[in-house]
Amino acid sequence: MDLYEYQGRELFERHGLPVLAGGVATTPEEAKAIAEGLGDRVVVKAQVKVGGRGKAGGVKLAEGVDEAVARSTDILGMDIKGHTVHKVMITVTANVAEEYYFSYLLDRANRTFLCIASVAGGMDIEQVAAETPEKVAKIAIDANDGVDEAKAREIVAAAAFPAEVAEEITQIAVKLWQAFVAEDATLVEVNPLAKTADGSMLLLDAKVTLDENAGFRHPDHEALVDQGAVDPLEQRAKEKNLNYVKLDGEVGIIGNGAGLVMSTLDVVAYAGERNGGVKPANFLDIGGGASAAVMANGLEIVLSDPAVRSVFVNVFGGITACDAVANGIVQALELLEQRGEKVTKPLVVRLDGNNAEQGRAILDAANNPLVQRVDTMDGAAERAAELAAAGV
Ligand SMILES: Nc1ncnc2c1ncn2[C@@H]1O[C@H](COP(=O)(O)OP(=O)(O)OP(=O)(O)O)[C@@H](O)[C@H]1O
Ligand SMILES: [Mg+2]
Repeated sequence: MDLYEYQGRELFERHGLPVLAGGVATTPEEAKAIAEGLGDRVVVKAQVKVGGRGKAGGVKLAEGVDEAVARSTDILGMDIKGHTVHKVMITVTANVAEEYYFSYLLDRANRTFLCIASVAGGMDIEQVAAETPEKVAKIAIDANDGVDEAKAREIVAAAAFPAEVAEEITQIAVKLWQAFVAEDATLVEVNPLAKTADGSMLLLDAKVTLDENAGFRHPDHEALVDQGAVDPLEQRAKEKNLNYVKLDGEVGIIGNGAGLVMSTLDVVAYAGERNGGVKPANFLDIGGGASAAVMANGLEIVLSDPAVRSVFVNVFGGITACDAVANGIVQALELLEQRGEKVTKPLVVRLDGNNAEQGRAILDAANNPLVQRVDTMDGAAERAAELAAAGV
């Protein structure tokens, strides 16, 4: 889960890192109240989960409360790379002398953690990294050893931070690592890590990604979820423990196994090109041991997507045999009827693998007019796309 800057700022503050006073506003009135408490010079910053806000005009200095309100009015509602600004953060203006870059991240390719640090921070860091990579230090961090003072000094030396800030950055590096570990983050990025005119250090920007797999250890992280941005179907699927991702097509997809579902998306997308441009409406992996209840929950979610016009159930029987899945589908449709959710959209079912024959026989015997059986994956994808294109 990516955090907004203001959430990252609060997280840094909780871990004793030096940040500036500030607040977050959704209206110019709220911005006014915050600015009034912060003094004469403030910065108004668009809160969107995308980089390059400054260059897009989403970070503005303001002299006095009136200007802060005016800049907030400008920035609220702005579009930054497809993200609408619903919130602004107002902070005190720092007297910035130097801008450095500092981050910790999970380095998946090398199966380790990584510190990236540079004296050439600020809004052009991407260009610096591309054109003068020698100015960007990369220091691997062993998960077991972490960052103690000695390691932090190694980072400071590698990045060639000036002597007068070495001690302060060392302390920040250690604390930031502690925050990274304590919060189960996969990224903490500070750009700029600013040296002010009086020589002290400030974390002026915060980009934080938290590992949702560790969510069970952090009940407080739930409050950081941006409810307004969560897809309601994905939310309901999550509550039912379903592995569901909403997409923007018309063919609902249910399969067992992530790999099979991924390739189902591909064949449906290809079939869609021949059938009026219809596309997969979702990813849904109901997993190996899919019971009737799980199938019913999956069908309920997929069918409640108003964009869905047909559903492709693609099952390869393995440990869970096809007859069990077929019974699951039949029972799921009955269960939905009982729940008062009358199913009206056509289902194309492809069963293959373990006990496929028995499974197909069960579907044939149930003789549900909404269920069509097609025994090849390509054929079933084609049929599902045709039905969606016909809008039946
Ligand atoms: N509180 C502040 N006081 C003074 N200058 C600031 C302050 N906050 C930001 N700035 C200046 O604005 C620039 C851009 O701010 P910031 O780093 O938060 O946005 P950004 O880098 O454009 O956005 P992103 O990091 O999301 O790409 C900083 O590099 C810094 O020069
Ligand atoms: Mg930045």
